[in-house]
Formats: sequence, structure tokens, C-alpha cells
Amino acid sequence: MTVRAIATVGHPVLRERAAEITPEELASAEVQALIDDLIDTMHAANGAGIAANQIHVPRRVAVIEVDHNPRYPYKPPIPLTVIVNPVIEPIDDELVEINEGCLSVPDLRGNVFRHVNVRVRYLDRDGVEHDEVRRGLTAGTFQHECDHLDGTLFLDRVRDTTTLTTWEQFERFHRDAFVTRITEFVARVGS
Ligand code: NI
Repeated sequence: MTVRAIATVGHPVLRERAAEITPEELASAEVQALIDDLIDTMHAANGAGIAANQIHVPRRVAVIEVDHNPRYPYKPPIPLTVIVNPVIEPIDDELVEINEGCLSVPDLRGNVFRHVNVRVRYLDRDGVEHDEVRRGLTAGTFQHECDHLDGTLFLDRVRDTTTLTTWEQFERFHRDAFVTRITEFVARVGS
């Protein structure tokens, strides 16, 4: 169990398409240790999720967990979830504009449009297949992490660059309006 260094924007590993993990690899001590390190690194950095290429390992695994997160206090809880070889697809055309940050993009936040309703299929760390519908901000978190595995950062999805802020200026000028809007959204969609 180790907290690993996090790659920051500009490091080529963040722009690689991460490689699939075979069932045999998933069962190996090496990949199981990688998953433990992802969890430890996410916890240490107060992230809502982290993908393996963010710790310099370009393989298709990410972890997600939200439990009263200080970086994103308005996010509904998500139990610790390990997603291996995830495949995500929108269920419909509904979008929501979410203000996002990323552990690999220090001190910057910006608005991106995410699908509200997605189907996500993945293996958990025990190799069990999952096929789930995720909605709302939780769907957004899954899309953010799956993007990482394809070499995409939230920055690439920011349409209106005037929404880019440091965390300090987000707190000062933008948080209240965003939290009001997104709290109404969460109450409507339930997650
Ligand atoms: Ni990220």
C-alpha cells in the first residue's frame, strides 16, 4: 500500500490510451497492488476518483469513491468502486454542465458538459462483471475517469474557457451559484 506520485498535465502518460487488463493480469499480485495504490493515492489526495495513468501506469483501471469529499462537498456519496476495462455509453441525449477539477490539473476548475444517464460495464477487482446505469453527478464522475483511460482530460471538454478558474477564485466568485444549481439538479435526478 503506497501513495504514488500523481502525473500532472503535460506528462505524456496522461495522453496515452491505457491498455486493457486480461483476467489473468487482474488476478496477479502486481495488478492487485496497483489497485491498492490507486485507492491509497485517491484517499491521500482527497480525490473523487483516480485512473491508473494518473499514477504513471497506462492500464485500464480506475477507482472512484465519494464520501463527504472536501473538494466536492455537493457530490452524492459513491461507495468505493474499482472499474477495470470500463465501457461507458450514454443512454440518452440529456446533458448537464458540471464544474470539474482533476488531481492531474492542479489548481484549475472549469465547466464541462456530461451525459446525465450512462450505462457502464466493467470488471471489479475480483473479475466480476458489472452492467449498471449511473446518473447525475455520479455519471459525470464515471465519465471523467473513463476519459482518463482514453487520454482525455476535462480541459479538452471545456467549451467556454471563461469558466476556467483557480480553486481560490471558484470559491470567491462561482461556488455559490454552482452549488445552488447543482444541488437542485441532484435533488431532481437523485445522484
Ligand atoms: Ni481527473
